[in-house]
Amino acid sequence: MFITLEGIEGAGKTTQLQNIVAFIQARGYECATTREPGGTAVGAQIRKVLLDPSNRDMDAGTELLLYVADRVQHIRTVIQPHLAAGRVVVCDRFFDATLVYQGYARGLDKALIRSLHRLMCDDLQPDATLLFDLAPAVGLARAWSEIDSGGRTSQETRFENETLAFHNKVRDGYLDLAHQDPQRYRLIDAHGDAQQVSRAVQEVLTMLLPERR
Ligand code: TMP
Repeated sequence: MFITLEGIEGAGKTTQLQNIVAFIQARGYECATTREPGGTAVGAQIRKVLLDPSNRDMDAGTELLLYVADRVQHIRTVIQPHLAAGRVVVCDRFFDATLVYQGYARGLDKALIRSLHRLMCDDLQPDATLLFDLAPAVGLARAWSEIDSGGRTSQETRFENETLAFHNKVRDGYLDLAHQDPQRYRLIDAHGDAQQVSRAVQEVLTMLLPERR
């Protein structure tokens, strides 16, 4: 099973990752975690370029193709081998992030983005997507307080530096995708504290993964 985590900056999905793995393993499944961008050695280098705040003049098309390049390497060398071995794969961001950030927010053609996914990424779709939903002003404030306190690197803040209007488009894009595919998307209210969010996540995982022992 392929599960992805999505949401705006500061929604807390990365914080939940370890709890998610522990919970899935306790239900009797082998579980692998990974992320985009940067889930491979090549991808780690692409991630640096994509998130470096000094790359202010990056063209949106360049940005799109770098995310796709990261994903091709990631799918072929990490995701598909794990899935073939029967593991549950939990991925912190995937293709929906490209549709939302480069499509809904940057304004690139969503049909083109979907075509690239079909042509280069075997049209791989998650079985379930946990969407951590949060007001962008709250998410951005959380993200910046983590960066300012040294909990996250300031070398990866190109998107945190975007305007609130940009992040509103990101949130609305995710909600639109969730509305179009309620079977795949599970909405998690990310306004609460980490424990409340963790409980909501566990409820969803309990429905998705029947206990194996
Ligand atoms: P994160 O790993 O801290 O979530 O940072 C990744 C950033 O990259 C985040 O701001 C969202 C952005 N992003 C895209 O714009 N398009 C994509 O396809 C992906 C995977 C991430």
